[in-house]
Amino acid sequence: MENKIKEVVEEARRLLKDARTTQQLEELRVRFIGRKGRITALFKELGKLDKEKRPVVGKLLNEAKTTLESELEKALKERKRAESRREKIDVTLPGRKPFVGTLHPITKIAREICSIFQRLGFDIVEGPEVELDYYNFEALNIPREHPARDMQDTFYITDNVVLRTHTSPIQVRVMEQRKPPLRIIAPGKTYRRDSDLTHTPMFHQVEGLMVGEKVSFGDLKGILTIFVHQMFGEDVGLRFRPSFFPFTEPSAEVDIQCVICRGEGCRVCSHTGWLEILGSGMVDPEVFKMVGYDPDSITGFAFGMGIERIAMLKLGINDLRLFFDNDLRFLRQF
Ligand code: FA5
Ligand code: MG
Repeated sequence: MENKIKEVVEEARRLLKDARTTQQLEELRVRFIGRKGRITALFKELGKLDKEKRPVVGKLLNEAKTTLESELEKALKERKRAESRREKIDVTLPGRKPFVGTLHPITKIAREICSIFQRLGFDIVEGPEVELDYYNFEALNIPREHPARDMQDTFYITDNVVLRTHTSPIQVRVMEQRKPPLRIIAPGKTYRRDSDLTHTPMFHQVEGLMVGEKVSFGDLKGILTIFVHQMFGEDVGLRFRPSFFPFTEPSAEVDIQCVICRGEGCRVCSHTGWLEILGSGMVDPEVFKMVGYDPDSITGFAFGMGIERIAMLKLGINDLRLFFDNDLRFLRQF
């Protein structure tokens, strides 16, 4: 009898360990300590025992019953706590879309600029961001100690190596490698020690270069006019304003009618109605000599525009630094 009690208790404990749901636990209670359960059945066998044995076995049975009761109770409580902790899943809710990244607005605008020039026959090329002083300055007719170096605050890596301050060194690299005629467009990152509403230490430019036997200032005006009309619309006016760059002669900066106020005058254009978007000019004969072109038979024009400036105007943004804060609330608008 004592062994039987032990066996029943052990079996109950084994099953208890494997029980996974409250329903399974409930079934175990019925099976072992319910009115028709195994322990109850053993109680009924007490009568068959010798008189002096009955109290001893009875006590054992009572102990077995209370132990099982309390173990079942404990398991049930744990089960219920775990179930209430688990999140209820509402299978009727619509699914959550995974977030898909998009191109940065600057990348999009750069691609748009390049594709307009590609349709006009320009090839896309690239150059190094860490550049030799020679390509960034010297070959562009800006010798050491020349005051024009002050036009751009330069990050020097060593005496001879700089972070390029503009994309113009790509002009020189391309002309060293190719023979005219050529038409190239070169987008990329540029660096200057600059930081305010309209200047960031890293920004982007697109360089353009067209060289051939009879390339004229008229071609420069024509190509840039087509570009502005395709980028900002046919009704946006533009003007060429005399300027100076050591590597072009004559030089001109291009202004477009302020797209924010349509030329009426506003804060973005400092109430002038015009906004500068690029520098340009006819390639200086000195630059042709540096790359081994004959300045007597070859002419060309070049231009360099700030991509952020174009993006500001195209997207109506008044603080350039927003482009590089990487605030998703800003970026998701495009
Ligand atoms: C140049 O960099 C000349 N290389 C352009 C050029 C190329 C002239 C070929 C002639 C022939 P500039 O320093 O003005 O020029 O810069 C050109 C444009 O870059 C500016 O109009 C402006 O839009 C942009 N830019 C200049 N500095 C910054 C800056 N710190 N942050 C953002 N944009 C800038
Ligand atoms: Mg300028």
